[in-house]
Amino acid sequence: MEPQPEAQAQRDLMYGQFDLGSLSIFSGSFINFGYWGELDPDREITVEDRVESHAELYRQVAMSLEPEPGDRLLELGCGLGVGAALVATEYDVLVSGLDRSATQLRRAAAINADAIKALGGALSFVQGSVTDIPWGDVSVDGVFAVEMLQHVDDLAAVAREVHRVLRPGGRFAAATFFAPDGADAAAVADLLETVASGADVVRPVGEFAADLAAAGFTDVAVESIGEHVWRQLDRWISQTEFRVSWARNWLRCYENGLMDYYLVTARRPE
Ligand SMILES: C[S@@+](CC[C@H](N)C(=O)[O-])C[C@H]1O[C@@H](n2cnc3c(N)ncnc32)[C@H](O)[C@@H]1O
Repeated sequence: MEPQPEAQAQRDLMYGQFDLGSLSIFSGSFINFGYWGELDPDREITVEDRVESHAELYRQVAMSLEPEPGDRLLELGCGLGVGAALVATEYDVLVSGLDRSATQLRRAAAINADAIKALGGALSFVQGSVTDIPWGDVSVDGVFAVEMLQHVDDLAAVAREVHRVLRPGGRFAAATFFAPDGADAAAVADLLETVASGADVVRPVGEFAADLAAAGFTDVAVESIGEHVWRQLDRWISQTEFRVSWARNWLRCYENGLMDYYLVTARRPE
């Protein structure tokens, strides 16, 4: 796929000057839609519920790597780094967070200053792109990504890079939104501003699974987790100043079968 310079400039603005993570749609320095548990429909969702949804999405992704204490993990698109810190702490592993935004990484260093100190070398942040990962071959036990692959124009390059840095037997897990295979991509752009602008790219999930297989991965699995994401996310949005905005169309896209949220996992063969 051709590079998309304008889309890339928008993403850099989104995570630089615009500071997407500061919007009330997100909380706790996380920037993802969340994996939600059951919530009483008769009470308002609290900020604590919202933060827990972000954290639980990280746990769902991390658990699918089946991490062992001491494993070296790489996070693609770590954003403000609080998810990397959570994984390092809760799973007793070493996590390096990679992000292309120097501004995000400066924020991550400040937000996680105490965790970086407490965890010693088990938590670190590095600037770079997921299509050209600044890591050596066969250097990590697992790679994960939480709501970042929608910003990548060349997912086949990501699949090749992740395969290169993983040790044989190492696992990859990623959660974000894709289109169900065969869905109408043009209709999504009509409903979502960030898709129309090119900042988010909603690809058929089967295409990414095929990229992983072509890069040499086995056990490629695609699981829809949308029932844990979209409805509660929309309830949360309805409590914020974005209650009357295009952001309500995320749920519409899901309900119309145009988009879903997926957990995609794969393993580099031994
Ligand atoms: C939606 S945020 C998710 C942050 C974090 N994973 C979370 O869930 O809180 C996406 C992040 O991916 C980063 N990103 C986008 N494109 C990237 C690329 N090509 N290489 C590395 N990071 C990238 C952005 O700078 C941003 O911090």
